[in-house]
Parts: sequence; C-alpha cells; structure tokens
Amino acid sequence: PVNKPLGGKLAIVTAGPTIEHIDPVRYISNHSSGKMGIAIAEALADAGANVQLVLGPTPQQTSHPDITTTRIQTAQEMFEAVTTRFSQADIVVAAAAVADYRPANIADKKIKKGEAQLHIDLEKTPDILRSLGDTKAPQQLLVGFSLETNNEKEYALKKLREKHLDMIVMNSLADAGAGFNYDTNKITLFDKNGREQSFPLKSKQAVAQDIVSAIIELQHA
Ligand code: PMT
Repeated sequence: PVNKPLGGKLAIVTAGPTIEHIDPVRYISNHSSGKMGIAIAEALADAGANVQLVLGPTPQQTSHPDITTTRIQTAQEMFEAVTTRFSQADIVVAAAAVADYRPANIADKKIKKGEAQLHIDLEKTPDILRSLGDTKAPQQLLVGFSLETNNEKEYALKKLREKHLDMIVMNSLADAGAGFNYDTNKITLFDKNGREQSFPLKSKQAVAQDIVSAIIELQHA
C-alpha cells in the first residue's frame, strides 16, 4: 500500500552509544543519546517495516508497537546482536556511535589511585558496519552515518566506499544544533549512485523522514 511502502520489510537500526568497561566502576563512552537512531526506527516502523532496534545505554526509549528493542552495552555486544539478525534483514541503518577502541584488559577489581600516571592500553573494537558491508547480499540495503569535526565530505565518501554502503548520512559537530543529544540535526546524504542531497537543520523526527524517503527511493532505483 501507498502509505506502508516498507510493509513486509525487516529493518535493523543501531542507536545510542556503547560503553567499554575499564574496571567495575569505570568506562569509556561518548555523548550519543540515541535520539537520532530511535527517530529512524520509528520512521521506518511508520512506513510499515518491522524494526529491530539495537540500543546502547541511554534513558531514551521507544514504545512503538512495531519496534523490538534489544539493549546492549559494549561494541562487542552490539556486533553480536546485529550480526545474528543480519541474514533476515532487508535494511540496516547504523546510527549508533560505536566506540572504536576498548581497554585491552578489563580489571576485575577497582583500579586504585596511585601517585603515578595511569596508562590504559586500548585495542580496536569490531567495525560492525564494515563487517556487514563485507558480507551483505546484493538486495540488502546498508545505510551508515558519518560524524566528524573536519574534512566531513571526504571522510563520509571514504566510509561509503570502503564499507560498501548504499548510502551514508553525514552530520558534523561543526554545525550548530547538529549531532549528539540535540533534538535537531543537519544532514547531507550521499548514495552509491553519486547522488548528493543536503538538508537544512530540522527536528530529528523530520531528518528521520528524509532518510527513510531516500531509503524508499533507493529501493526502487
Ligand atoms: O544519538 P544522538 O545523540 O541523537 O546523536 C546522533 C549521532 C550524532 C550519534 C548520529 O547522528 C551519528 O552520527 N552516528 C554515527 C556516529 C559515529 O560513530 O560515526 P562514525 O563516523 O565514527 O562511524 C561511521 C559508521 O560506522 C556509523 O554508521 C557507525 O555506526 C558505524 N560503526 C563505527 C564503528 C564501529 N566499531 N562499528 C560501526 O558499525
């Protein structure tokens, strides 16, 4: 039906931050609230999709009847939650701010304060989106985000290409009212066919609509 263009589709959306434990009381994380990803999950569900939302630690949530939320904490847990569901998915949107590094060892007791500097060795986390891009079937539609503070377009196009995405959503911390935690965002979409669309600052709900419209158009392209 016209008003449910994604009826029968399964979508996976990642949202929010991940936290990477240092010891039982400390962690490394980032400022993501999950608002952008939750708005996308809701817009996809409103368009008829069945949505699996994989959500990091945040007080934000959704009660949309067509969204099933799986709560995770770490990048590794997000990786597992997404990859176990991936073969069924028609659409994946990765709006989460996944930690790129985690402590190489997690202390099982609280690290005591001493006189010297403390050094924590960090190792890379799995790149969820890259591994989906490496294994995706041709009809699966993969949408990533790119968040930067500088060289935004260059880095966004590099991620689109190297992670084998169908589309990337660029947002920048250099734009007022865009990025983490705001109720607004300002995006530019780049798709694999070379199309580029820039939008003004809008509510995250309206931004999510623009992204879902672009996804629907790409499915028919
Ligand atoms: O949550 P909000 O407060 O509403 O803020 C929204 C947002 C700013 C978090 C969101 O709009 C956004 O930009 N999300 C992506 C943030 C990010 O980490 O971007 P990146 O350029 O570092 O990552 C590129 C892409 O790879 C992203 O789709 C990311 O989800 C994915 N990725 C990154 C690292 C990793 N280990 N695995 C991944 O899948």
